[in-house]
Amino acid sequence: MANEFLPSTIPSPEQLEKLMGYAKLMSYYKCAMMEIETKCNVLSEEFSLQFDRNPISSIKSRLKKPASIFGKLQRKGLPVTLESMEENIHDIAGIRIVCSFKDDVYMLADALLKQDDVTLIEKKDYIEHPKPNGYRSLHLIVSVPIFLAHEKRLMQAEIQLRTIAMDFWASLEHQLHYKKEGHFDDETIAELKRCAEISANLDDRMNKLRQHIQEPSLTDLLSRHLGPLSQR
Ligand code: GTP
Ligand code: MG
Repeated sequence: MANEFLPSTIPSPEQLEKLMGYAKLMSYYKCAMMEIETKCNVLSEEFSLQFDRNPISSIKSRLKKPASIFGKLQRKGLPVTLESMEENIHDIAGIRIVCSFKDDVYMLADALLKQDDVTLIEKKDYIEHPKPNGYRSLHLIVSVPIFLAHEKRLMQAEIQLRTIAMDFWASLEHQLHYKKEGHFDDETIAELKRCAEISANLDDRMNKLRQHIQEPSLTDLLSRHLGPLSQR
């Protein structure tokens, strides 16, 4: 039976070598993604204990599909080679961290960037400076080392940090964009922007509430779990 995933002709040794090189490079990106996810999970564990609430609502990651990688290289007029892919496409490994509050986004970004094996390559703060359509998120391009059997390799990844409200808007906008193949009329563009502004306003109000309702101190937490310390 024919297998739709296999090429109909037998690949040449050169093609095979390229395919294997591609698979190897993608596995390195996957390792970088796992490294960053672990860093986030470690921070999440620490924050849960420290604050008695988790600033991280969800962590998702994805590897860019071959068609998107090659499409992007072609659109930018760049060579479609492994070297060019590694040099020019910074979001092959992507991690999206959704936080509860706006302050959490910056606290988490700081906590990640403070780590001595994380190097910041580029930061785009679309929260301070939203895109014209209303999109908000904090984007970091970082490089992290991955340790292989015989070498250490620095790999790049894109980390997107946003609040639940920013994620809500971006997910729905993405769905509408996909349905309309990116062709919105002026009224739709304006309405989407108004929705983004409402969600930004909500984020600011919830953030202020969080600042008003102080985080419990470690003593509060201990007494909540163990009973009042004065009676012990
Ligand atoms: P590309 O990486 O080629 O897209 O260009 P860029 O590096 O200028 O993009 P940028 O860093 O601004 O955004 C990259 C990613 O952010 C996209 O792949 C999306 O996941 C997300 N993003 C950016 N703009 C929007 C937007 O207007 N709507 C939604 N839903 N997501 C967006
Ligand atoms: Mg990008």
